[in-house]
Amino acid sequence: MELGLALFHYSTILLTVALLVGEFLVLRKGPSKEGVERIARLDIGYGIGAVLVVVSGLLRVFGGEIPAAFWGGNVLFWSKMALFGVIGALSAWPTIRYLAWAKALKADGSLPDDRSWRRLKPFVHTQLALFVVIPFLAFLMGD
Ligand code: HEM
Repeated sequence: MELGLALFHYSTILLTVALLVGEFLVLRKGPSKEGVERIARLDIGYGIGAVLVVVSGLLRVFGGEIPAAFWGGNVLFWSKMALFGVIGALSAWPTIRYLAWAKALKADGSLPDDRSWRRLKPFVHTQLALFVVIPFLAFLMGD
């Protein structure tokens, strides 16, 4: 059971990060019709992945061997939650832009300009960096 929960948590995290890396790679190229369509699709997957991360994390909190009360009083656990919250907040603006771009592309075939495209890179880049930091907290928080 414990192993299953851990594997579920790891797989959802890896899936989510992989989709975010995909967004980053698309952003590295300039704006294009394919890019707008692809990044909007990747972002839907990323959103679903993030929800699954929360589900798998909550299963570990409430379904693992360690009682949930231990996590409730664990500063590192809450730091991890806070960082995950920051990632969520940082993902909001790109999602809004992707949806607007996809809508404009559908309506009249217009593409975003270079500047607004490039502006999203730090949002995605910072999220990726935070995803690298979180596992350090996760490994320490059980001790
Ligand atoms: C709502 C979101 C999350 C919740 C509620 C949650 C909860 C948990 C819990 C309870 C554990 C068990 C630790 C143990 O038994 O020692 C755990 C382990 C872990 N979590 Fe999360 N987590 C969440 C999000 C994340 C994210 C976003 C990442 C990575 C980017 C992450 C990475 C890890 C890692 C690497 C472990 C491994 C430690 C182990 O398997 O023992 N978690 N998580």
